[in-house]
Amino acid sequence: MKLTLVAILFCILQFALTVDRSNFKTCDQSSFCRRCRKVTPGDSPFALVPGTLNIYSDSITTDLVNRENNHLFSLKLEALQGNTFRLLIDEKTPLKPRYRVNDALKSNPVPGTIKVSERADNELVITSGTSKAVVTGTPFKIDFYQNEKLSLSINAKGLMRFEHLRKKPQPPAETENNENPDELPKEVLPKSIEDEDPGSWEENFKSHHDTKPNGPEAVALDFTFPQAEVLFGIPEHADSFVLKPTAGTDPYRLYNLDVFEYELDSKMALYGSIPVIYGHGPEETIGVYWQNPSETWVDVFNSNAEKNVMSSIVNFVSGSRQTEPPAAHFMSESGIVDVFLLLGPSPLDAFKQYTDLTGTAPLPQLFTLAYHQSRWNYNDEQDVNSVSNKFDEHDIPMDTIWLDIEYTDGKKYFTWDPHKFQHPLEMIKNLTTLGRHLTIIIDPHIKRESGYFFHQDCTDRGLYTKNRDGHDYEGWCWPGSSSYPDIFNPEARKYFADQYLLENFKTTTKDVMIWNDMNEPSVFNGPEITMLKDNVHFGGWEHRHIHNLYGHMYLMATFDGLSRRDPNQRPFILTRSHFAGSQRYAAMWTGDNKADWGHLEASVKMCLSEAVAGYSFCGADIGGFFGNPDAELLLRWYQTGAFLPFMRAHAHIDTKRREPWLYPEDTKQIIRSAIRERYSYLPLWYTMFYEHERDGYPVMRPLLAHYPKDKNAFAIDNEFLLQDRLLVRSVMQQGVSKVDVYFPTKGDGKGDIWYDVDDYRKITTVGHESIPADLKKIPVYQRGGSIIPKKERIRRAATLMKDDPYTLIVCLDANQSAKGTLYIDDEKSFEYRKGQYLYIEYEFKNGVFKNRFIDNKSKYSPRSWLERIVIVGLEKVPKSAKLKASKSDAADLEVLPQGNAYVIRKPGIGMAEDFSITLKY
Ligand code: GLC
Repeated sequence: MKLTLVAILFCILQFALTVDRSNFKTCDQSSFCRRCRKVTPGDSPFALVPGTLNIYSDSITTDLVNRENNHLFSLKLEALQGNTFRLLIDEKTPLKPRYRVNDALKSNPVPGTIKVSERADNELVITSGTSKAVVTGTPFKIDFYQNEKLSLSINAKGLMRFEHLRKKPQPPAETENNENPDELPKEVLPKSIEDEDPGSWEENFKSHHDTKPNGPEAVALDFTFPQAEVLFGIPEHADSFVLKPTAGTDPYRLYNLDVFEYELDSKMALYGSIPVIYGHGPEETIGVYWQNPSETWVDVFNSNAEKNVMSSIVNFVSGSRQTEPPAAHFMSESGIVDVFLLLGPSPLDAFKQYTDLTGTAPLPQLFTLAYHQSRWNYNDEQDVNSVSNKFDEHDIPMDTIWLDIEYTDGKKYFTWDPHKFQHPLEMIKNLTTLGRHLTIIIDPHIKRESGYFFHQDCTDRGLYTKNRDGHDYEGWCWPGSSSYPDIFNPEARKYFADQYLLENFKTTTKDVMIWNDMNEPSVFNGPEITMLKDNVHFGGWEHRHIHNLYGHMYLMATFDGLSRRDPNQRPFILTRSHFAGSQRYAAMWTGDNKADWGHLEASVKMCLSEAVAGYSFCGADIGGFFGNPDAELLLRWYQTGAFLPFMRAHAHIDTKRREPWLYPEDTKQIIRSAIRERYSYLPLWYTMFYEHERDGYPVMRPLLAHYPKDKNAFAIDNEFLLQDRLLVRSVMQQGVSKVDVYFPTKGDGKGDIWYDVDDYRKITTVGHESIPADLKKIPVYQRGGSIIPKKERIRRAATLMKDDPYTLIVCLDANQSAKGTLYIDDEKSFEYRKGQYLYIEYEFKNGVFKNRFIDNKSKYSPRSWLERIVIVGLEKVPKSAKLKASKSDAADLEVLPQGNAYVIRKPGIGMAEDFSITLKY
């Protein structure tokens, strides 16, 4: 009873509407962060040990010593294929093994080849492809060069720290005369930072005590990006896309936490942690993936961002760079140094080097890219049915209804509330018949209630995470008293996964998808609302060693469960907590945001940072989770959400209902058209996600991805690209009737041609243009030179649009040509991996439009056909067109002017047919 009260209190507190900062540590309140930040720049005490070098075909190994205490480390520098290096440093003979991450990489990286030469006695040159690493022995440092230009330096600032495992110092034995100063030990070693910091061997935060059985074990290293102007990456933070210098503030923090009412413009930790950072300048982009799942803080140095206008003018005039290059200092509580150096050189190269290591989102079922309707909670079966019916009544497409925690029997997952959801199978079938889906929430905290099978099984089989005394750890979450399956134990993962099988979860069907929340894990009464760091997981690892991986491992179990439930249907999972590699299992969303304009803007910045960190399938609660959006905010949010990869409306249980028809008619109409616009672009979304899986590039991209030389574009994060086809600058400010849209330059002062997708108005501006934006307007532009596939017959649900015909929008560049792709398959199964798909490239050149099948071996025959081709930007007026198709006779086609475009109507060609269409002038 008392525990449930705490849960209720937490729920009320959640509505207090501001983050309680005192719940979360500052760097100064964290012993290892204090210790690592105390290291002053300068000569590093670390040095290579002469005579210990071994050279292999892909790597070198050598010993490293900390000259302050003579402790020895093993270092391995390995070249990987694709212009990437990996640096591993561990203790040579640790008192016990230190944690190494196994589950973040998609597979073992493919080794490259190296050539090694020694330059002077203190330098080693390791060449791989066009890049080389120069390792300096004393003080230890590595410089990476590409084409003789310095791209990246490791430990150039000398901030490296590696706290070796040690025995706890015992207080001196008491002697009879211990007041006598003569009795003190004769030899007193100089005090290290570890000795001096009071939190090295145990630490308190608020009422929580951390016993730290292993004492200090931090690792830290600095990375300098000589060619960079800006740094970005290391999501998840509610901050700008470009990282801000941290001098005088806390570092950026990576520690998966349930921070309710999170603040904007903040470096505080949030639900997910992806420790990859990029340095970008006009010449190159370099990435650093710091593979460490323990609590991590990152200091950012960037005097470019701090320098005042005057000094930049001086630099510009003198042509010199008088500032220090940007750098990042990673500081982790435990583990080893395991870091991947992604040498680009282009932004897209670096993003791909990261996904080559950690994977991409597998192609999702098409309906998951459509519109999702959620709230905490849809109350009962009638509510679910009525919401679904209302969408039809108001002719608004919708694919998925979501059920939050209240559907369960007393927050016991894998059960239904026996009163409100008496006939779940019928309810699910009703939705499925309409072409819709149901997604339900399954959280990792398990209610400690006797008789609850899950709790009983985990207790009996010893599958719960243990506290430091070896007992099942107990914390508080939505159900009250809860325990947390030890998701690091393969048996616990299998048990969790098995529960999704239909023979176990009989009251669901294979069409029910899963939402994994609170998987940081969130523990209402734990330190910083999470688990105690000295809890113990499978293999004897402390929670501190693996914290940021907990949510990730939980996703692995869900993914396994759904994959086994129906091996030929692509699973869909949404997660809140995530780590490097989680994109292989689940989409993510930005958690409990607020119904205000700042949070709307943050949704774009946050998803951009996620996208470059491998996480393309990202979205934010449309409307804002906390609070009640007014009509203007809600409709602008829908307009932005329609162009983010994951599109879901969601709201807190205490908010007013906000389904679109509850707003005035004109607001509803605008929301309806935003959702319908999303549906019209589903063929593009689907193609982009296919190409993401296939090629490893993000779907949503910052401008710098394609305009790397445009310095004015580096920091733009209220605007984004979808691949290189669309530029989106939705309205995210209150009460505005126009917005400044930035059209980037390729660096030579020239830009692309853009076309407004609403009226095909041609834009040749380079730089800002003020665009009128009444409430109906979503400023979105298609790049001249691109082709975009669409479907224009919008139906109740995306699943019902599968066989509908396509429209191609061909926007011409300055050479009167354009190219683009379209991907088609059954939208649901894994048959595409066996060749059951069509991947088509379209091209318009010299007045001829034709298709080409990429991957000839693919053999899918869709029932859909080509209904319209819209050509935008033609300089000559066409009179008609001649169609030649492989399976039908040549035919003349009508070409009709329509506003700023020409439309070839009804080519009527099957999508699998070869054809060409020649314009006649
Ligand atoms: C968390 C989630 C939120 C959900 C709520 C209840 O706060 O972030 O989306 O509605 O829990 O499950």
